[in-house]
Amino acid sequence: MKIDVAKKIQKLSSSIFQEIVDRKLAAIHNGLDVIDLSVGSPDFQPPEFVVETLSEYAKDPSKYGYTLRGIPEFYEAVSYFYKQRYNVDLDPSKEILQLMGSQDGLAHLAMAIINPGDYVLVPDPGYPIYEASVTIAGGQVYPMRLLEENNFLPKLDEIPLEVLQKTKMMIISYPGNPVTALANREFFEEVVEFAKLHNILVVHDFAYSELIFDHNPQISFLSVPGAKEVGIEFNSLSKTFNMAGCRIAYVSGNEQAVAALASFKSHIDYGIFYPIQAAAVKALTSDFSFFKSQVSEYERRRDALIAGLEKSGWHVAKSPATMFVWAKIPAGFSSRRFAFELIDRAGVAVVPGDAFGKLGEGYVRIALVQPPERLSEAAERIQSYLMEAVITK
Ligand SMILES: Cc1ncc(COP(=O)(O)O)c(C=O)c1O
Repeated sequence: MKIDVAKKIQKLSSSIFQEIVDRKLAAIHNGLDVIDLSVGSPDFQPPEFVVETLSEYAKDPSKYGYTLRGIPEFYEAVSYFYKQRYNVDLDPSKEILQLMGSQDGLAHLAMAIINPGDYVLVPDPGYPIYEASVTIAGGQVYPMRLLEENNFLPKLDEIPLEVLQKTKMMIISYPGNPVTALANREFFEEVVEFAKLHNILVVHDFAYSELIFDHNPQISFLSVPGAKEVGIEFNSLSKTFNMAGCRIAYVSGNEQAVAALASFKSHIDYGIFYPIQAAAVKALTSDFSFFKSQVSEYERRRDALIAGLEKSGWHVAKSPATMFVWAKIPAGFSSRRFAFELIDRAGVAVVPGDAFGKLGEGYVRIALVQPPERLSEAAERIQSYLMEAVITK
């Protein structure tokens, strides 16, 4: 029997990520030591109190039932966290929804909101689920150009009126992945006005909310006046507390959007394992001292990598946030050639920028998921590769 995969699934492209995995495995198979900076899964551990809470509750057989929308303590904890960290008031009963991850939350949101033919404004370059979720829901993607000369903020007045008339939702992410730029308050205010004018739901992905470097301001979209009228914000414990595999996240803000997603999810999942929720409550109501050491460690990693690359004459901009470096590659290379040759010849795995959209061409994304010494070694290997590439040109 031949299984005919749905057309919308056939439209999804995952080939570049698969190719990186295949090349990495082939390089390792050929005896090369590969420094893997391609995957954005934190190598740091969650705080000890998270592991303890999780194990303690896992021993209790009464905690193995369905939890549906989640335990009330989780909702109270998110509300507390948002007040403490971003001075945002959230009503736990209406303005918050527990999710397994922002990933599935984003995918399900498009299914709950988008009708076939609706437009969604999506950043280019952008995190892949944004485009994929719209495609799965049968919507139309309109890429918003994120250019370095505009500080990677989209120019909203560039979007044609005929597109805006059909646009139902827009997705933004500051700081984001792969583009690590931060937005300022003025930009968020402009987005609120724009969304009101054109009746567009704003979705802000704030997955890296606590990985902000050099004392840059940390701005939740929901802290901007009027934001809750037009928007929602995704946040997650994956990167903030290194719980990426211990799935738990949440979305907050606009009551109607939260209700739509909750209703959709009530048809397809039965909630998160109680011990994970209890661990999340512990994390969200902790004293937050955990972030400080984590942020400085990521800063040390970023600085070690960038200083090392500088020695090879490759000047790369310092990320103001996140666990990535979005690096403009030296002239004369395509993103794919550069990334693939780095794996094959230098034993360093990074992701070619075009994996994140057309405008990612000319960049690679380097994940800061190894200690500083290993990142310095990666930079040395890249330096040797670049020298060789210049000689053989
Ligand atoms: C920008 C961005 N949004 C969302 C996610 C998904 O996170 P979660 O683990 O909450 O599903 C990631 C994961 O890497 C991400 O980089």
